[in-house]
Amino acid sequence: MKTKKLIIGNWKMYPASLKDAKAKFTAIKKTAGKLANVQTVICPPLVYVSELKKLVTGHRCVVGAQNAWFETEGAFTGEVSIAMLASVGAQYVIVGHSERRATVNGCGESDELINKKVLAGVKAGMTIVLCVGERERDPDGVYLKFITEQIKEALHGVQKKDLKKIVIAYEPIWAIGKNAIHPASPDDALEVSILIKRTLADMHGKDATGIPILYGGSVDAKNAWEFLLKSQVNGLLVGRASLDPKVFGEILKSADQIK
Ligand code: PGA
Repeated sequence: MKTKKLIIGNWKMYPASLKDAKAKFTAIKKTAGKLANVQTVICPPLVYVSELKKLVTGHRCVVGAQNAWFETEGAFTGEVSIAMLASVGAQYVIVGHSERRATVNGCGESDELINKKVLAGVKAGMTIVLCVGERERDPDGVYLKFITEQIKEALHGVQKKDLKKIVIAYEPIWAIGKNAIHPASPDDALEVSILIKRTLADMHGKDATGIPILYGGSVDAKNAWEFLLKSQVNGLLVGRASLDPKVFGEILKSADQIK
């Protein structure tokens, strides 16, 4: 059976108004709704999640969240829980994005905290999009060990029955955002998607074979097809290019065509 490509838009802290968010979502949904071979997920800022959920029709274009707290409720000023997001209809939650792991201008999230979020997410019935990736590459391959450890720590204690709720997104930090040093090549992504598959197989044997692997970092309408075709990934995590419905629509259409 052909599995759908999973294309996730991470809107980060954009756009500045609900009106604009609704317009972008509606335009993306129009394209996504026609594509039978793609599962589209839009992760807007948390405050827009329930409003965009109201615009969802069908299953081809749904809403997720970029982050959440692991406790269900409690005295955590300013936080929103995974359970709350699930209750307003979010189906996916990104966990461990490098912008949240960052210690400078980030939130300093540790592997331990990320693991708690993963466990809380599967309990709430959400699909977890776990982000991993190195800050830089070294000739000795230390970065490969680093990524392996990130996966092992984040998935510690996840039971086999919950593996179907896990997605792993490989996002090399050096290739993300407008300050990217240079784009990653499909071969860079291929090397790590193979590593991720091996790591998951070591942890869970053949039960892990269905876990989707995504690539993210400077994906655009020109390079999307190459990653999908050459890097053995099941989809993409798209930042900047997901905010332009026309460009994102092109990415979705190329994903739809790839066998
Ligand atoms: P980018 O961001 O596509 O803008 O590089 C990707 C991400 O951070 O998820």
